[in-house]
Amino acid sequence: MSTALVCGAGGFIGGHLVKRLKREGFWVRGVDLKFPPFAETEADDFVVGDLRDQSFCRQIIDRKFDEVYQLAADMGGAGYIFTGEHDADVMHNSATINLNMLDACQKRNVRGMFYSSSACMYPEHNQKDPDNPNCAEDSAYPAAPDSEYGWEKLFSERLYLAYNRNYGMRNRVARYHNIFGPEGTWEGGKEKAPAAVCRKVAQAASHGEVEIWGDGTQTRSFLYIDECLEGTIRLTRSDFEGPVNVGSEEMVTINQLVDFVSDIAGKKVIKKHIPGPLGVRGRNSDNRLIGQKLGWKPSATLRSGLEKTYEWIERQVRSNMRAAA
Ligand code: NAD
Ligand code: GDD
Repeated sequence: MSTALVCGAGGFIGGHLVKRLKREGFWVRGVDLKFPPFAETEADDFVVGDLRDQSFCRQIIDRKFDEVYQLAADMGGAGYIFTGEHDADVMHNSATINLNMLDACQKRNVRGMFYSSSACMYPEHNQKDPDNPNCAEDSAYPAAPDSEYGWEKLFSERLYLAYNRNYGMRNRVARYHNIFGPEGTWEGGKEKAPAAVCRKVAQAASHGEVEIWGDGTQTRSFLYIDECLEGTIRLTRSDFEGPVNVGSEEMVTINQLVDFVSDIAGKKVIKKHIPGPLGVRGRNSDNRLIGQKLGWKPSATLRSGLEKTYEWIERQVRSNMRAAA
Protein backbone atom coordinates (compact mmCIF):
# COMPACT_ATOMS: atom_id res chain seq x y z
CA MET A 1 0.00 0.00 0.00
CA SER A 2 1.34 3.47 -0.89
CA THR A 3 1.88 5.86 2.00
CA ALA A 4 1.67 9.65 2.26
CA LEU A 5 2.48 12.27 4.86
CA VAL A 6 0.40 15.46 4.71
CA CYS A 7 1.71 18.38 6.78
CA GLY A 8 -1.03 20.97 7.31
CA ALA A 9 -3.72 18.25 7.17
CA GLY A 10 -5.92 20.23 9.57
CA GLY A 11 -6.09 23.07 7.06
CA PHE A 12 -8.17 23.70 3.96
CA ILE A 13 -6.04 22.24 1.16
CA GLY A 14 -4.42 19.58 3.38
CA GLY A 15 -7.83 18.34 4.58
CA HIS A 16 -9.04 17.91 1.01
CA LEU A 17 -5.76 16.32 -0.05
CA VAL A 18 -6.09 13.67 2.65
CA LYS A 19 -9.54 12.76 1.31
CA ARG A 20 -8.23 12.56 -2.26
CA LEU A 21 -5.27 10.34 -1.27
CA LYS A 22 -7.60 8.05 0.72
CA ARG A 23 -9.81 7.69 -2.38
CA GLU A 24 -6.67 6.63 -4.27
CA GLY A 25 -6.01 3.90 -1.67
CA PHE A 26 -3.10 5.50 0.24
CA TRP A 27 -2.33 4.99 3.92
CA VAL A 28 -2.17 8.62 5.10
CA ARG A 29 -0.66 10.30 8.12
CA GLY A 30 -1.87 13.87 8.69
CA VAL A 31 -0.01 16.36 10.88
CA ASP A 32 -1.17 19.75 12.11
CA LEU A 33 -1.47 22.01 15.15
CA LYS A 34 -5.20 21.22 15.06
CA PHE A 35 -7.76 18.78 13.69
CA PRO A 36 -9.73 19.93 10.61
CA PRO A 37 -12.42 22.30 11.93
CA PHE A 38 -15.32 21.38 9.61
CA ALA A 39 -15.17 17.62 9.04
CA GLU A 40 -13.67 14.56 10.67
CA THR A 41 -10.22 13.79 9.26
CA GLU A 42 -10.02 10.79 6.94
CA ALA A 43 -6.33 10.26 7.72
CA ASP A 44 -5.43 6.80 9.05
CA ASP A 45 -3.24 8.47 11.62
CA PHE A 46 -3.49 12.15 12.65
CA VAL A 47 -0.73 13.61 14.79
CA VAL A 48 -1.34 16.92 16.54
CA GLY A 49 1.93 18.76 17.01
CA ASP A 50 4.09 21.72 16.12
CA LEU A 51 6.31 21.52 13.03
CA ARG A 52 8.43 24.40 14.39
CA ASP A 53 9.80 21.77 16.77
CA GLN A 54 12.63 19.95 15.01
CA SER A 55 12.41 16.80 17.13
CA PHE A 56 8.68 16.55 16.35
CA CYS A 57 9.48 16.71 12.62
CA ARG A 58 11.92 13.81 13.03
CA GLN A 59 9.39 11.78 15.05
CA ILE A 60 6.65 11.93 12.43
CA ILE A 61 8.96 10.46 9.77
CA ASP A 62 9.33 7.13 11.54
CA ARG A 63 8.41 5.06 8.47
CA LYS A 64 8.81 5.14 4.71
CA PHE A 65 6.55 7.62 2.92
CA ASP A 66 6.07 7.42 -0.85
CA GLU A 67 4.77 10.97 -0.96
CA VAL A 68 5.26 13.91 1.43
CA TYR A 69 3.18 17.09 1.05
CA GLN A 70 4.32 20.18 3.00
CA LEU A 71 1.32 22.51 3.18
CA ALA A 72 1.67 23.78 6.76
CA ALA A 73 2.15 27.55 6.95
CA ASP A 74 1.11 30.63 8.86
CA MET A 75 -1.15 32.14 6.22
CA GLY A 76 -4.37 33.94 5.40
CA GLY A 77 -6.02 36.24 2.89
CA ALA A 78 -5.45 39.97 2.36
CA GLY A 79 -6.88 40.79 5.80
CA TYR A 80 -4.11 38.72 7.42
CA ILE A 81 -1.02 39.06 5.24
CA PHE A 82 -1.31 42.64 3.95
CA THR A 83 -1.92 44.48 7.20
CA GLY A 84 1.70 44.06 8.31
CA GLU A 85 0.60 43.07 11.83
CA HIS A 86 1.64 39.41 11.49
CA ASP A 87 4.80 39.79 9.39
CA ALA A 88 7.31 38.54 11.96
CA ASP A 89 5.21 35.50 12.92
CA VAL A 90 4.39 34.62 9.31
CA MET A 91 8.06 34.69 8.30
CA HIS A 92 9.37 33.00 11.43
CA ASN A 93 6.74 30.27 11.67
CA SER A 94 6.61 29.25 8.03
CA ALA A 95 10.37 29.41 7.42
CA THR A 96 11.01 27.33 10.56
CA ILE A 97 8.54 24.66 9.44
CA ASN A 98 10.21 24.44 6.01
CA LEU A 99 13.75 24.40 7.42
CA ASN A 100 12.82 21.66 9.90
CA MET A 101 10.87 19.49 7.50
CA LEU A 102 13.54 19.60 4.81
CA ASP A 103 16.26 18.72 7.30
CA ALA A 104 14.23 15.85 8.78
CA CYS A 105 13.19 14.46 5.39
CA GLN A 106 16.71 14.64 3.96
CA LYS A 107 18.19 12.90 7.03
CA ARG A 108 15.50 10.19 6.94
CA ASN A 109 16.07 9.57 3.22
CA VAL A 110 12.71 10.81 2.01
CA ARG A 111 12.99 10.91 -1.77
CA GLY A 112 11.24 14.23 -2.24
CA MET A 113 8.52 16.56 -0.98
CA PHE A 114 5.80 18.68 -2.52
CA TYR A 115 5.95 22.33 -1.42
CA SER A 116 3.12 24.87 -1.78
CA SER A 117 4.56 28.25 -2.65
CA SER A 118 2.31 31.15 -3.62
CA ALA A 119 1.69 33.63 -6.40
CA CYS A 120 2.42 36.21 -3.68
CA MET A 121 6.13 35.72 -4.45
CA TYR A 122 5.79 37.50 -7.83
CA PRO A 123 7.11 41.08 -8.01
CA GLU A 124 4.68 43.88 -7.37
CA HIS A 125 5.97 45.90 -10.35
CA ASN A 126 4.52 43.33 -12.79
CA GLN A 127 1.09 43.40 -11.14
CA LYS A 128 0.22 47.08 -11.27
CA ASP A 129 -1.99 46.96 -14.38
CA PRO A 130 -5.20 45.14 -13.38
CA ASP A 131 -5.93 44.19 -17.02
CA ASN A 132 -2.51 42.83 -17.82
CA PRO A 133 -0.58 41.35 -14.86
CA ASN A 134 2.50 39.25 -15.60
CA CYS A 135 2.83 36.09 -13.50
CA ALA A 136 4.93 33.98 -15.87
CA GLU A 137 7.28 31.81 -13.82
CA ASP A 138 10.36 33.50 -15.30
CA SER A 139 9.12 36.95 -14.23
CA ALA A 140 10.04 36.21 -10.59
CA TYR A 141 13.35 38.12 -10.73
CA PRO A 142 14.40 40.77 -9.94
CA ALA A 143 12.39 39.83 -6.86
CA ALA A 144 10.05 42.36 -5.25
CA PRO A 145 7.05 40.66 -3.59
CA ASP A 146 4.66 43.12 -1.91
CA SER A 147 4.35 41.11 1.34
CA GLU A 148 6.65 39.40 3.82
CA TYR A 149 4.50 36.30 3.28
CA GLY A 150 5.63 36.40 -0.38
CA TRP A 151 9.29 36.85 0.57
CA GLU A 152 9.15 33.80 2.86
CA LYS A 153 7.59 31.75 0.06
CA LEU A 154 10.34 32.84 -2.31
CA PHE A 155 13.05 31.96 0.21
CA SER A 156 11.50 28.57 0.93
CA GLU A 157 10.99 27.59 -2.69
CA ARG A 158 14.69 28.32 -3.24
CA LEU A 159 15.49 26.18 -0.18
CA TYR A 160 13.55 23.17 -1.57
CA LEU A 161 15.37 23.49 -4.89
CA ALA A 162 18.74 23.84 -3.15
CA TYR A 163 18.10 20.47 -1.44
CA ASN A 164 17.46 19.01 -4.90
CA ARG A 165 20.81 20.27 -6.15
CA ASN A 166 22.93 19.54 -3.09
CA TYR A 167 21.29 16.39 -1.67
CA GLY A 168 19.75 14.81 -4.77
CA MET A 169 16.21 15.19 -3.43
CA ARG A 170 13.21 15.30 -5.81
CA ASN A 171 11.30 18.21 -4.31
CA ARG A 172 8.47 19.77 -6.33
CA VAL A 173 7.37 23.40 -6.01
CA ALA A 174 3.98 24.81 -7.02
CA ARG A 175 2.93 28.45 -6.92
CA TYR A 176 -0.74 28.38 -5.94
CA HIS A 177 -3.06 31.17 -7.09
CA ASN A 178 -5.89 31.83 -4.62
CA ILE A 179 -7.51 28.44 -3.97
CA PHE A 180 -11.14 28.30 -2.80
CA GLY A 181 -13.90 25.84 -2.03
CA PRO A 182 -16.02 24.29 0.73
CA GLU A 183 -14.38 23.71 4.11
CA GLY A 184 -12.06 26.70 3.71
CA THR A 185 -11.75 29.49 6.27
CA TRP A 186 -14.79 31.72 5.76
CA GLU A 187 -14.73 34.05 8.79
CA GLY A 188 -12.41 35.28 11.51
CA GLY A 189 -9.94 37.42 9.49
CA LYS A 190 -7.92 34.82 7.55
CA GLU A 191 -10.56 34.22 4.86
CA LYS A 192 -9.80 35.11 1.24
CA ALA A 193 -12.02 37.09 -1.12
CA PRO A 194 -14.18 34.22 -2.51
CA ALA A 195 -15.15 33.01 0.98
CA ALA A 196 -15.51 36.55 2.35
CA VAL A 197 -17.79 37.57 -0.51
CA CYS A 198 -19.90 34.40 -0.17
CA ARG A 199 -20.28 35.06 3.57
CA LYS A 200 -21.15 38.74 3.10
CA VAL A 201 -23.72 37.98 0.41
CA ALA A 202 -25.23 35.16 2.49
CA GLN A 203 -25.52 37.51 5.47
CA ALA A 204 -26.94 40.42 3.44
CA ALA A 205 -30.63 41.16 3.14
CA SER A 206 -32.03 41.30 -0.39
CA HIS A 207 -31.05 44.74 -1.76
CA GLY A 208 -28.75 45.08 1.29
CA GLU A 209 -25.18 46.40 1.30
CA VAL A 210 -22.05 44.27 0.91
CA GLU A 211 -18.75 45.86 1.96
CA ILE A 212 -15.87 45.41 -0.48
CA TRP A 213 -12.29 46.49 0.22
CA GLY A 214 -11.03 48.95 -2.39
CA ASP A 215 -12.82 50.07 -5.54
CA GLY A 216 -13.46 46.48 -6.65
CA THR A 217 -11.62 46.92 -9.96
CA GLN A 218 -8.58 45.00 -8.69
CA THR A 219 -8.30 41.65 -10.50
CA ARG A 220 -7.59 38.08 -9.41
CA SER A 221 -8.11 34.52 -10.61
CA PHE A 222 -9.41 31.83 -8.27
CA LEU A 223 -8.85 28.08 -8.51
CA TYR A 224 -11.34 25.53 -7.20
CA ILE A 225 -9.93 23.06 -4.67
CA ASP A 226 -10.45 19.88 -6.77
CA GLU A 227 -8.49 21.43 -9.64
CA CYS A 228 -5.72 22.43 -7.23
CA LEU A 229 -5.42 18.85 -5.98
CA GLU A 230 -5.21 17.49 -9.51
CA GLY A 231 -2.40 19.94 -10.38
CA THR A 232 -0.63 19.20 -7.10
CA ILE A 233 -0.69 15.44 -7.54
CA ARG A 234 0.35 15.57 -11.19
CA LEU A 235 3.34 17.75 -10.31
CA THR A 236 4.33 15.56 -7.34
CA ARG A 237 4.37 12.45 -9.52
CA SER A 238 6.13 14.08 -12.48
CA ASP A 239 9.78 14.56 -13.39
CA PHE A 240 9.35 18.34 -13.42
CA GLU A 241 10.54 20.14 -10.28
CA GLY A 242 8.94 23.55 -10.95
CA PRO A 243 8.43 26.16 -9.65
CA VAL A 244 5.21 26.22 -11.63
CA ASN A 245 1.91 28.09 -11.39
CA VAL A 246 -1.12 26.11 -10.26
CA GLY A 247 -3.97 28.49 -10.87
CA SER A 248 -6.79 29.57 -13.13
CA GLU A 249 -6.49 31.98 -16.06
CA GLU A 250 -10.13 33.12 -15.68
CA MET A 251 -9.32 36.57 -14.34
CA VAL A 252 -12.14 38.68 -12.86
CA THR A 253 -12.44 41.94 -10.97
CA ILE A 254 -13.55 41.70 -7.36
CA ASN A 255 -16.75 43.54 -8.44
CA GLN A 256 -17.39 40.74 -10.97
CA LEU A 257 -16.77 38.17 -8.23
CA VAL A 258 -19.50 39.85 -6.15
CA ASP A 259 -21.84 39.86 -9.17
CA PHE A 260 -21.28 36.11 -9.71
CA VAL A 261 -21.98 35.32 -6.06
CA SER A 262 -25.06 37.52 -5.78
CA ASP A 263 -26.43 35.94 -8.96
CA ILE A 264 -25.83 32.44 -7.52
CA ALA A 265 -27.54 33.53 -4.30
CA GLY A 266 -30.46 34.99 -6.27
CA LYS A 267 -30.04 38.26 -4.35
CA LYS A 268 -29.57 41.83 -5.52
CA VAL A 269 -26.91 43.53 -3.36
CA ILE A 270 -25.43 47.01 -3.25
CA LYS A 271 -21.62 47.11 -3.27
CA LYS A 272 -20.21 49.47 -0.67
CA HIS A 273 -16.53 50.12 -1.38
CA ILE A 274 -14.55 50.75 1.79
CA PRO A 275 -10.83 51.09 2.64
CA GLY A 276 -9.08 47.80 3.40
CA PRO A 277 -5.92 45.79 2.75
CA LEU A 278 -5.63 45.46 -1.03
CA GLY A 279 -2.48 43.62 -2.09
CA VAL A 280 -1.45 43.81 -5.73
CA ARG A 281 -3.65 45.66 -8.22
CA GLY A 282 -3.95 42.72 -10.60
CA ARG A 283 -3.02 39.05 -10.64
CA ASN A 284 -3.72 36.15 -12.96
CA SER A 285 -2.19 32.73 -13.38
CA ASP A 286 -0.10 32.05 -16.48
CA ASN A 287 -0.64 28.39 -17.32
CA ARG A 288 1.62 28.03 -20.34
CA LEU A 289 4.42 26.24 -18.48
CA ILE A 290 2.20 23.79 -16.59
CA GLY A 291 0.32 23.07 -19.82
CA GLN A 292 3.58 22.26 -21.60
CA LYS A 293 5.13 20.22 -18.79
CA LEU A 294 2.12 18.43 -17.28
CA GLY A 295 -0.68 18.88 -19.80
CA TRP A 296 -2.77 20.34 -16.98
CA LYS A 297 -5.33 23.11 -17.01
CA PRO A 298 -8.45 23.71 -14.93
CA SER A 299 -11.42 21.74 -16.22
CA ALA A 300 -14.33 23.86 -14.98
CA THR A 301 -15.40 27.48 -14.70
CA LEU A 302 -15.09 29.85 -11.74
CA ARG A 303 -18.87 29.98 -11.60
CA SER A 304 -19.22 26.22 -11.05
CA GLY A 305 -16.76 26.30 -8.14
CA LEU A 306 -18.48 29.32 -6.63
CA GLU A 307 -21.85 27.55 -6.75
CA LYS A 308 -20.53 24.71 -4.56
CA THR A 309 -18.67 27.11 -2.26
CA TYR A 310 -21.62 29.46 -1.81
CA GLU A 311 -23.91 26.57 -0.96
CA TRP A 312 -21.50 25.39 1.78
CA ILE A 313 -20.86 28.88 3.22
CA GLU A 314 -24.53 29.77 3.21
CA ARG A 315 -25.14 26.61 5.28
CA GLN A 316 -22.44 27.69 7.79
CA VAL A 317 -23.97 31.16 8.05
CA ARG A 318 -27.46 29.73 8.63
CA SER A 319 -26.28 27.24 11.23
CA ASN A 320 -24.33 29.97 13.08
CA MET A 321 -27.45 32.14 13.08
CA ARG A 322 -29.55 29.26 14.44
CA ALA A 323 -26.95 28.61 17.18
CA ALA A 324 -26.91 32.31 18.16
CA ALA A 325 -30.75 32.57 18.25
P1 NAD B 1 -4.61 26.71 5.94
O1 NAD B 1 -4.26 27.84 6.84
O2 NAD B 1 -6.04 26.27 5.88
O3 NAD B 1 -3.73 25.43 6.29
C1 NAD B 1 -2.43 25.53 6.81
C2 NAD B 1 -2.35 24.62 8.01
O4 NAD B 1 -1.03 24.66 8.54
C3 NAD B 1 -3.29 25.04 9.16
O5 NAD B 1 -4.22 24.02 9.45
C4 NAD B 1 -2.35 25.31 10.32
O6 NAD B 1 -2.87 24.92 11.57
C5 NAD B 1 -1.14 24.47 9.93
N1 NAD B 1 0.04 24.94 10.64
C6 NAD B 1 0.48 26.21 10.77
N2 NAD B 1 1.56 26.27 11.55
C7 NAD B 1 1.82 24.99 11.92
C8 NAD B 1 2.82 24.40 12.75
N3 NAD B 1 3.75 25.15 13.35
N4 NAD B 1 2.80 23.06 12.93
C9 NAD B 1 1.84 22.30 12.35
N5 NAD B 1 0.88 22.80 11.54
C10 NAD B 1 0.87 24.13 11.35
O7 NAD B 1 -4.09 27.10 4.48
P2 NAD B 1 -4.38 26.42 3.07
O8 NAD B 1 -5.24 27.35 2.31
O9 NAD B 1 -4.79 25.02 3.25
O10 NAD B 1 -2.92 26.51 2.42
C11 NAD B 1 -2.03 25.41 2.42
C12 NAD B 1 -0.70 25.85 1.84
O11 NAD B 1 -0.87 26.41 0.53
C13 NAD B 1 0.02 26.93 2.66
O12 NAD B 1 1.41 26.70 2.60
C14 NAD B 1 -0.32 28.21 1.91
O13 NAD B 1 0.64 29.23 2.14
C15 NAD B 1 -0.29 27.70 0.48
N6 NAD B 1 -1.09 28.56 -0.41
C16 NAD B 1 -2.44 28.59 -0.26
C17 NAD B 1 -3.19 29.42 -1.09
C18 NAD B 1 -4.68 29.50 -0.97
O14 NAD B 1 -5.28 30.27 -1.70
N7 NAD B 1 -5.31 28.72 -0.10
C19 NAD B 1 -2.56 30.21 -2.05
C20 NAD B 1 -1.17 30.16 -2.15
C21 NAD B 1 -0.43 29.31 -1.33
N1 GDD C 1 -10.13 38.72 2.01
C1 GDD C 1 -10.91 39.69 1.53
N2 GDD C 1 -12.06 40.00 2.20
N3 GDD C 1 -10.54 40.34 0.41
C2 GDD C 1 -11.35 41.30 -0.05
C3 GDD C 1 -12.56 41.64 0.58
C4 GDD C 1 -12.93 40.96 1.77
O1 GDD C 1 -13.96 41.21 2.39
N4 GDD C 1 -13.15 42.64 -0.13
C5 GDD C 1 -12.35 42.90 -1.16
N5 GDD C 1 -11.24 42.11 -1.12
C6 GDD C 1 -10.10 42.19 -2.04
C7 GDD C 1 -8.75 42.36 -1.35
O2 GDD C 1 -8.57 43.69 -0.92
C8 GDD C 1 -7.81 41.95 -2.48
O3 GDD C 1 -7.56 43.06 -3.30
C9 GDD C 1 -8.62 40.91 -3.24
O4 GDD C 1 -9.98 41.00 -2.79
C10 GDD C 1 -8.14 39.47 -3.03
O5 GDD C 1 -8.00 39.26 -1.64
P1 GDD C 1 -7.64 37.83 -1.00
O6 GDD C 1 -8.41 36.78 -1.71
O7 GDD C 1 -7.86 37.94 0.47
O8 GDD C 1 -6.08 37.70 -1.19
P2 GDD C 1 -5.06 37.80 -2.43
O9 GDD C 1 -5.63 37.28 -3.71
O10 GDD C 1 -4.54 39.19 -2.51
O11 GDD C 1 -3.93 36.81 -1.92
C11 GDD C 1 -4.34 35.46 -1.71
O12 GDD C 1 -3.89 34.63 -2.72
C12 GDD C 1 -2.53 34.29 -2.67
C13 GDD C 1 -2.20 33.42 -3.86
O13 GDD C 1 -2.63 33.97 -5.04
C14 GDD C 1 -3.92 35.04 -0.30
O14 GDD C 1 -4.68 33.91 0.10
C15 GDD C 1 -2.51 34.62 -0.22
O15 GDD C 1 -2.26 34.01 1.06
C16 GDD C 1 -2.23 33.63 -1.33
O16 GDD C 1 -0.91 33.20 -1.27
